[in-house]
Amino acid sequence: MKLGCCYYPEHWSEEQWADDARRMAEMGLSLVRIGEFAWSRIEPEAGRYEWDWLDQAIETLSAAGLKIILGTPTATPPKWLVDQMPDMVAIDEHGRPRGFGSRRHYCFSHAGYREECKRIVTAMAERYGEHPALTTWQTDNEYGCHDTVLSFSNSAAAGFRSWLAQRYDNVQALNNAWGNVFWSMEYREFSEIDPPNLTVTEANPAHWLDYRRFASDQVANFNREQVDIIRACSTGCDITHNFMGFFTEFDHYDTARDIDIATWDSYPLGFLEQFWFDDADKRDYLRQGHPDIAAFHHDLYRGCSNGRWGVMEQQPGPVNWARYNPSPLPGMVKLWTLEAMAHGAEFTSYFRWRQAPFAQEQMHAGMLRPDGVDAPAAGEAREAARIIEEIGEQRMAQAPVALVFSYESAWVCDIQPQGQSFKYLELVYEWYSALRKLGLDVDIVSDKADLSNYKMIAIPTLPIVSEKLAELLQSLTCPILIGPRSGSKTRSFCIPDQLAPGVLQDLIPLKVTRVESLRDGATEPGDNFEISRWLEEIETDLAPEFALKDGRGVAFKKDHLRYVAAWPDRALLTQVLSRMADEADVAIAPLPKGLRIRRTATHMFAFNYSAQPIHFEQTGKTIDPAGVSITALGG
Ligand code: GAL
Repeated sequence: MKLGCCYYPEHWSEEQWADDARRMAEMGLSLVRIGEFAWSRIEPEAGRYEWDWLDQAIETLSAAGLKIILGTPTATPPKWLVDQMPDMVAIDEHGRPRGFGSRRHYCFSHAGYREECKRIVTAMAERYGEHPALTTWQTDNEYGCHDTVLSFSNSAAAGFRSWLAQRYDNVQALNNAWGNVFWSMEYREFSEIDPPNLTVTEANPAHWLDYRRFASDQVANFNREQVDIIRACSTGCDITHNFMGFFTEFDHYDTARDIDIATWDSYPLGFLEQFWFDDADKRDYLRQGHPDIAAFHHDLYRGCSNGRWGVMEQQPGPVNWARYNPSPLPGMVKLWTLEAMAHGAEFTSYFRWRQAPFAQEQMHAGMLRPDGVDAPAAGEAREAARIIEEIGEQRMAQAPVALVFSYESAWVCDIQPQGQSFKYLELVYEWYSALRKLGLDVDIVSDKADLSNYKMIAIPTLPIVSEKLAELLQSLTCPILIGPRSGSKTRSFCIPDQLAPGVLQDLIPLKVTRVESLRDGATEPGDNFEISRWLEEIETDLAPEFALKDGRGVAFKKDHLRYVAAWPDRALLTQVLSRMADEADVAIAPLPKGLRIRRTATHMFAFNYSAQPIHFEQTGKTIDPAGVSITALGG
């Protein structure tokens, strides 16, 4: 695994570049990402390109032995461009334009902006495509950041209508599929259909689901246009995009299909603070991040682009964008770095090199302080570089468990939650965390993945199940766990004729006859477990494998397949997963709080995410807080 950093030569005087480059190399970094927000410097006025500074920056960085990751600058269209086509900005759900003055102020559907992107990307790719120092291109920056996937502009509306016209034979077919007879919502022409915002009460969920599919396709199309241009001009380079954490607004599998290597931006402390973790986790992991945050995304993005992935931005100290922004515990930057290696990252690049003393992110730490002195992360990067060198390249081992992740499922749960605590990401994360706490290595894969190499499969929920997947699951023999709401909707967001779990009834003979959601604090007791949030009523001749105290079944088993008819708590999940591991002959080793392990083909890594030392029985070693223990696997 290589190390790198994100650098903004345009933020610093040219005289500093050489020294910065020298210090990067001295720190053990060999990659540097530049350019992704530099449009106003590359093209200060329409058609007037200024390449000299960028030529020089690339020369200076590469003279120090660094390889370049070059970003296309399309996340930050400059003022002259927005003035030239004011309707290129996205329109939010309330009909308001997303103004100039920060970033990502564009609509994916605006044809004029798409042409401008093609033009600037062509100019950059022609100029630098064959530069020997270039190793990778990054398209744009964090598609969707700041809530920018959905736009409700006229361009988006027009794009949506033609997207619909391509998918439905005629408007009557659409009316039938969506159920538009309900509330007299029938259309006579595709041209009458608007985006689903600004309706009096909720719009038809089928309308929303198609809008989300359309918006997701627009991201993939936007990305593909850049990829096609870069491929034509830059034969030897990889292409990546830096995806985000806990983000499901577009289907990342679709976008990732066009790139060579998926990367993501890892900010464990910011994510702990901003997402659903409870007060106890926020307190216990304040300076470390919850132990599964980084690993979850490593495993998710590894599954997005055929195993090739990396960390494009690694938090080096306090960030500026969470409600509270603590410092990492000493050792965490090193731990996060080595953890990425253990999960197979090709590189980890720190965001950013030097803290900026100006503008929006002046409170965001870097590897260096604003005055250029090493910040604490610098020493940890050096230490990580040394260890990486010492243990050598890591090959991935086949993980025993596949966890199915589906963006469309996230949209379905979001569009029609039916209970406000039914959150897709939270459910999947909880299942992932339960598996990892048992000491298992996990691949996160799409519902279209080849699942035949796994010993256990977990599908936390998949409301829309394809016939193909149902057939595949039928043909496998390993233990499979399927969660609530799976098979509960058709492709056009209706309840299937045979009721939930729809096509899965061919695999396990049960029917969901009613569902209920429970408010926070309301629970239903079982034998040493508790159900909260969601409970289904099941009609079946199968005897339940796990039941509530009053006898209602919550988990059912038929051959190798299990169905959980509720939002399982950790205790129930752990029992079910442990039984599955036992049936599959997969060894489990429940880990102490805060400890996680990951095996490569040659090593076992153990990460102490707690603020106390942990004695790890498996190796007999005591691991310091934020410590990493690496053991060569015998044989
Ligand atoms: C990322 C983004 C970077 C920077 C960073 C700050 O989301 O890609 O440009 O803003 O966050 O943490």
